[in-house]
Amino acid sequence: MQNNVIVPFLHSQPPSVLDWLSNIQEQTALWAPANRPQWEAILSSADEVFYGGAAGGGKSDLLLGLALSLHSDSLIFRREYAQMTGARGLIDRSREIVGSRGRYNSTEHVWRDVDGRRTLEFGSMPHEHNKFRFLGRPHDFIGFDEITEFSRTMPGSAAASWRQATRRCTPMGNG
Ligand SMILES: Nc1ncnc2c1ncn2[C@@H]1O[C@H](COP(=O)(O)OP(=O)(O)O)[C@@H](O)[C@H]1O
Ligand SMILES: [Mg+2]
Repeated sequence: MQNNVIVPFLHSQPPSVLDWLSNIQEQTALWAPANRPQWEAILSSADEVFYGGAAGGGKSDLLLGLALSLHSDSLIFRREYAQMTGARGLIDRSREIVGSRGRYNSTEHVWRDVDGRRTLEFGSMPHEHNKFRFLGRPHDFIGFDEITEFSRTMPGSAAASWRQATRRCTPMGNG
């Protein structure tokens, strides 16, 4: 990545991001971007990022990685909860990433105390009205895995309400 992108980015970042970058450098971060598209998504100054690409390109991992190594209170959605479970599903992969550095509650679908301070909840919204289910709780990262499987209004209306509530969440979709 070129310096004319990196330097302005660094100057505009809060301490949490600078800490995270130095953790990556020291190889103590739970997760680090593995390719240029993942870096570009992270360096983007957009309020909302849509990240597409071929299967296996690292779309889901980007959501997990950001939630588990950078943000404090995250929500990651799949349209149906059953799509996140099972071998090589999102939840299995999150266990691989976190290892013993957090506690997973499989009833609530919540990671707590990841590196002592991060929380990640897995959510689903199979029906239209479910988009209101998570309102009013503060989150600083919201990800939609396979966003094309959601209804047209789900990510937008839900994300707009959350942003109003918290003013610092980062909706990111992939598909
Ligand atoms: N930044 C990363 N660090 C480590 N492994 C990664 C990273 N990005 C992707 N992977 C690996 O590649 C696999 C496929 O990535 P995934 O995000 O599931 O692809 P996609 O969602 O685009 O189909 C992941 O399960 C993981 O093993
Ligand atoms: Mg995926």
